[in-house]
Amino acid sequence: MTSANAPDPATLLRRFEARFGKSAHLGHATGTASDASAALFYAPGRVNLIGDHTDVTGGLVFPCGIDRGSHLVIRRNDERRYRFASTDFDLFGDLGEDEISQRWGDTWINYPLGVIDQLRRRGIDIDGVDCLFAGNIPNGAGLSSSASIEVVTTFALNTLFDAGLTPIEQVRLARAAENDFVGMQCGIMDQFAVAMARDGHAMLLDCTTLEHRQVPLRLGGNALLVTNTNQRRELNESAYNTRVEECARALALLAPVLGVTQLAEVGEADLQAHEHLFADDPDALARARHVTSENARVRLAVPALESGDVARFGELMNASHESLRHDYQVSSEPLDTLVALARAQPGVLGSRLTGAGFGGCTVTLLAADRIDAFIDRVGRDYRQATGLTADFYRIHPGPGVMQVELPARGRA
Ligand code: GLA
Repeated sequence: MTSANAPDPATLLRRFEARFGKSAHLGHATGTASDASAALFYAPGRVNLIGDHTDVTGGLVFPCGIDRGSHLVIRRNDERRYRFASTDFDLFGDLGEDEISQRWGDTWINYPLGVIDQLRRRGIDIDGVDCLFAGNIPNGAGLSSSASIEVVTTFALNTLFDAGLTPIEQVRLARAAENDFVGMQCGIMDQFAVAMARDGHAMLLDCTTLEHRQVPLRLGGNALLVTNTNQRRELNESAYNTRVEECARALALLAPVLGVTQLAEVGEADLQAHEHLFADDPDALARARHVTSENARVRLAVPALESGDVARFGELMNASHESLRHDYQVSSEPLDTLVALARAQPGVLGSRLTGAGFGGCTVTLLAADRIDAFIDRVGRDYRQATGLTADFYRIHPGPGVMQVELPARGRA
């Protein structure tokens, strides 16, 4: 099991100063960029418990923040330089103003760059920053490491530059960074979850209205375990975008007859009654079938959990996986293998892929006292079946984006 330990603020500040130098002009009047001191921010990753691939069509999702995330030590500079370093990667970007409106190769630096780009489009002048990121979310595993970086950057810049954006505006901006700059046509779930997560809770979010309700995660004697397939994800972005287009085609067929503006407004019975419209587009029908049935499952799953029926919640997780596998077609051999192995273990109530799919992670709901035996058995059988080694993460629902105190030395 990999460690969830995050570096402590003093260590982060030391590493920041080793990279960028100590804060200049400490003790001078604040308010100008050259007096700026470093500040520390944090945003978690997220795991989605049920309701996947519904957000892009305005549907329902039920994610929670996790106790792993991204830290950002950041300081304004008055040099109109944009510097990005990470404790996890060697890559270091030192960019001038003329370089920040284009992608920086195919690197993680595009996430903060996308945020700066969005802020500038809104007329907020970001006149130079030094940034050190440190994260402990496994990358590319479907736990929203990218949304975590986007949201922590948005929150930090909003604070440092007094941009005055509301929390929802920040969520929208972080998503726009991903859509417009990075090029992934994702929905709003990840950025919303990472920003709004609350300790011990999952949130039921309506992705059309952005109305949300925090639901205490009372699982009885059960726990959440995330398992990473460690499968190399290929074509993830383009396959994701293709599914989004297929949903748009389904909407185009249904909208004129049903008078809807989003696929999320279509019920299962309505879809069934209009299947004949899809004679030439079976893929669009299958995607729509997933979206409508997944919304229905979220509607059932959350009240089940609230009334203490954890077993029912687990059954709906299982059904969600089958729908993602057969109708939305975003599962993979390793994901299906992990889910099948998980469901065969004693004490397991439900198991499904979580997030975008095409590799990444599963989330399993199981008796807390079975976790060690589960890891042992599933780890071994998965290796035997696939030749891959899985990683396991116990998940505790954690808080959303925040500023974190730095030791006094870092403050003016
Ligand atoms: C990715 C996207 C989200 C959502 C999930 C699937 O994480 O970023 O917007 O669509 O996939 O539920």
